[in-house]
Amino acid sequence: MRHKIIAGNWKMHKTTAEAVELINEIRAALSGDFAADVVVCPTFTALYTASSALKDSGIKLGAQNMFWKDKGAYTGQISSSMLKDVGAEYVILGHSEARGRFGVPEPDFTPEILSYFGESDSTINRKTIAALTAGLVPIVCVGETIDERNAGVTDRVVEEQLTVALETIPSEETCKIVFAYEPVWAIGTGEVCDADEADRVCGVIRSTVAKLFDSATGETVRIQYGGSVKPNNAADLLSRPNIDGALVGGASLSASDFAAIVMAA
Ligand code: PGA
Repeated sequence: MRHKIIAGNWKMHKTTAEAVELINEIRAALSGDFAADVVVCPTFTALYTASSALKDSGIKLGAQNMFWKDKGAYTGQISSSMLKDVGAEYVILGHSEARGRFGVPEPDFTPEILSYFGESDSTINRKTIAALTAGLVPIVCVGETIDERNAGVTDRVVEEQLTVALETIPSEETCKIVFAYEPVWAIGTGEVCDADEADRVCGVIRSTVAKLFDSATGETVRIQYGGSVKPNNAADLLSRPNIDGALVGGASLSASDFAAIVMAA
């Protein structure tokens, strides 16, 4: 039986003071009474303060990215040991926003902004290896854009992303990874993926892991769905056999919404 896991991806929101306020609200809303694993992923600058605010809450701390090198001349980067140092236990890797695959083109998302991002499957592979080596749990995100979905290549895209991301990682390490199926078109758009379809693609992720390793590994890994998860759709998504949790963006910035999603799990 896989244990459900709900993670809140705060993206580029919250100062340190605001992060503490939100954590206190989440703690009050959950009042220690939850069965799922719960993780919050603030910005780098709020991690240290968030770590103390989470003390004795049962809620775990995660980061939103990291670099694969441990130290060196990598201006602006953060390493796995730095994340461990501030108390992080999880790290989101390969998020579509870090891959430069934004869902809806908005005036802000001009081509030159996109070019500042652009992680590849192989950088995600290096990061996943580094995170596992450090003892962090990677939350590895995969998912198709709307163009890829319309072209009918969703399953192939997800399989390719996984195959490269998992290169050279042994099965006993892969078992520790949390995967997140995040269709790019569903992220931040309010357009949630239909629960049957989300479950089907999570099943594709599971069978790809089984094909790359063995069926026991496929059955062990936890797979979240992410993309416009809200209190009103969480229970339906989380009741599906292949969906073991949720990676929540917008709704994780509201303590009551996030708590409602945790309770649905
Ligand atoms: P959303 O974001 O819940 O705001 O759609 C999900 C994510 O990007 O992880």
